[in-house]
Amino acid sequence: MRIAVFGGTGGTGRRFLEAATDAGYGVKALVRNPNAIGEMPGVVPVVGNVLDGGKVVLTLSECEAAVVILGRTKGNPPDVLAVGTDLVIKGMAKMGLRRLIVVTSLGVGESRAQVPFVFKLLMNTVWKKEMQAKEAQERIVRESETDWTIVRPGGLTNDVVAGSYRIGTDTGTVGGRVSRGDLASFLVSLVRDGSHVRETPYVA
Ligand SMILES: NC(=O)c1ccc[n+]([C@@H]2O[C@H](COP(=O)([O-])OP(=O)(O)OC[C@H]3O[C@@H](n4cnc5c(N)ncnc54)[C@H](OP(=O)(O)O)[C@@H]3O)[C@@H](O)[C@H]2O)c1
Repeated sequence: MRIAVFGGTGGTGRRFLEAATDAGYGVKALVRNPNAIGEMPGVVPVVGNVLDGGKVVLTLSECEAAVVILGRTKGNPPDVLAVGTDLVIKGMAKMGLRRLIVVTSLGVGESRAQVPFVFKLLMNTVWKKEMQAKEAQERIVRESETDWTIVRPGGLTNDVVAGSYRIGTDTGTVGGRVSRGDLASFLVSLVRDGSHVRETPYVA
């Protein structure tokens, strides 16, 4: 099985490429800068931007699932998450793909109750635009006809992979940090077992 990845050059994205190929999946990754991942066995890079619908479709071709781990890194309009994700969803419809996994953040939507007070303050101020962008991205995913899962991690770290993490859909549970490697493992497990369809699990 082959997975189309959007955001494969990012902190979590690179770990996802490793975890997915280690698990035996083929990967096609849309990358703006192929040097950011170098040569990785099992990974086919497609050079382009997620805002280019043609490149998105090219990435999705011959894949069975799409994983979106986009962030608002440099050189982007403010609505890149929503517009890019929308193009992925439109491309999936064109190519006949159903399985979609999208990483957003704890604190979005009804998970707002799951973040500590100080984070709520930041979300209302310095992170306000980022949170609004993720709200818009989640809306587009929820309204899609895909078999979607929205994954909401707590604060990301580069700590070593713990191999264990908390997941759940209970918004009464307070979240916490998670390493990018553990998040990547969870994403691979979602591809493998097809769980949490039309759900928004947190991972902490
Ligand atoms: N940092 C935290 O504590 C935290 C907490 C909760 C959730 N999150 C979310 O978790 C996700 C993963 O975070 P991260 O820090 O691991 O990722 P990241 O390093 O910010 O990676 C973002 C990825 O998106 C890609 N991207 C951005 N614009 C693109 C475009 N126009 N076309 C193609 N690719 C584009 C980047 O590519 P380039 O290499 O070309 O820029 C990169 O691969 C993000 O959505 C983040 O907001 C983060």
